[in-house]
Order: sequence, then structure tokens, then C-alpha cells
Amino acid sequence: MSWLLVDSNKLGSMAPLIRFLVNPLTFPTFFDMHAWLKVDEQAAADDAGTSSTTFFEMAHGCSVYEMTRKNADHNALYNSAMVAASQITMEIILNQARADGAAVEFVAGDMFDFIPKADAVLLKWVLHCWGDDNCVKVLRKCKEAIPAVAGAGGKVIIIDAVMGAGPASASNKETQALYDVHMMHIDGVERDEHGWEKTILEAGFGAYKLVSSVGIHSVMEDYP
Ligand SMILES: C[S@@+](CC[C@H](N)C(=O)[O-])C[C@H]1O[C@@H](n2cnc3c(N)ncnc32)[C@H](O)[C@@H]1O
Repeated sequence: MSWLLVDSNKLGSMAPLIRFLVNPLTFPTFFDMHAWLKVDEQAAADDAGTSSTTFFEMAHGCSVYEMTRKNADHNALYNSAMVAASQITMEIILNQARADGAAVEFVAGDMFDFIPKADAVLLKWVLHCWGDDNCVKVLRKCKEAIPAVAGAGGKVIIIDAVMGAGPASASNKETQALYDVHMMHIDGVERDEHGWEKTILEAGFGAYKLVSSVGIHSVMEDYP
């Protein structure tokens, strides 16, 4: 068994993430990929554009976040998976760029409606869940939340995969490809640097920087 799946390792166990990925509401939806591709082929043949339904929606009749809203067990499973994955990722990222202990305030809400004022907004593993239009909407809200003046220190920090960035190893490329397929099942997008730049600039930011890449994760900063 991998040391990453046992509780005793000091970075925390990734078992909750595996439990989420193989759960009956997530994993079997991938078996619908063939049918989903056929729907799009048929829509193209009928000249009806492409279908907006994801294979998660095809299987369950609702989006992944509608499912977490209406199914408390699934929501708990999802959240525990995200905590497990974040624990290990943030330990590694913060080791490279130690935070200065600035106060963090937790505010619940819909990010499409409102993001509270802040010096910096951190979005980790959030934007890849959304297509370009929604991504731009969220980034615009983030931009409104930070100090507007360029050079005043305000920034939006994105932690997500950047396709083609990071180590040139086969395992990194394979992981990026798997991430891409995984995001496709809920209508998300894994972007290369050009895709990120386009989305960030379209949201109105003046500049952005790809700060660093640690394995599959990259850190980008967007400035007003
Ligand atoms: C892939 S998870 C990442 C969670 C966490 N940032 C992490 O890295 O582990 C995406 C997160 O976006 C949140 N989310 C989805 N839609 C949202 C919305 N409209 N407003 C605020 N958060 C939302 C979900 O609840 C979920 O926690």
C-alpha cells in the first residue's frame, strides 16, 4: 500500500481523495463517456451545436455542485477529499513560499455573487472546475475584491494545473492528461499557459505571472 494512504504519514493521508474518486456517484460516470461523445456527434450531425451536458449530468441529471448541495453524504465525502488533497499540496507549496502569518477570514457565499474585500484572493483548484465564461466571471469578482491600483500589493493567486508546465517527466504528462479527463466529466477545463493568460486578461487584469510549478500544481499571480 502507498505510504500516502496511511494516516500515520506526516503529510496526512490521501485516502479520502481516493474514497471520493472511486465512490459510486463519481467513478461510474466515466463509463458514460462513450455515450456522451455520441451525443455530441449526433448534435453536430443535426447541426444543433454541441451538447452542454457533462457525463456527470448525463448520469445523475444534475451538476456536481447541485449533487453536493442535495446529498449531504456526498458533500461530506467531497469536502474530506479536498481537505486531504489540500493538506499535502499546501504543505509543499508553503514550504517553498512561507506565508507571513497574515490573518485569514472564512466567509461563506457564492463566489459568482460576491467575494469579500481582501489584499489577496487565493483560488486553489477552483477555476479548473469551470469553463472559460464562468472562470472570467469569478476572476472579475476577485478583481473587484482586491485593491484596484496596480502596484498597491493586491493580487489574485491561482493554484491549479498549467498543462505543459512543471517537470518534463512522463508521470507529470500522464497526470496532466488524467486531470484533463477528470475535469471534462464535470465541464471543467485544464488550461495551458496560453489558456490561463487569455482568461486572466479577459477578466481585466493588467498582468499575470506564472510564479512556480511544483509537480502538477502551478502558482500564478494576477495583478490589477
Ligand atoms: C475542487 S474543490 C477545491 C477545494 C479547495 N479549494 C481545495 O483546493 O481543496 C472546488 C471548490 O469550489 C467550491 N465552489 C463551487 N462552486 C462555488 C461557488 N459558486 N461559490 C463558492 N465556492 C464554490 C466547492 O464547494 C469546492 O470546495
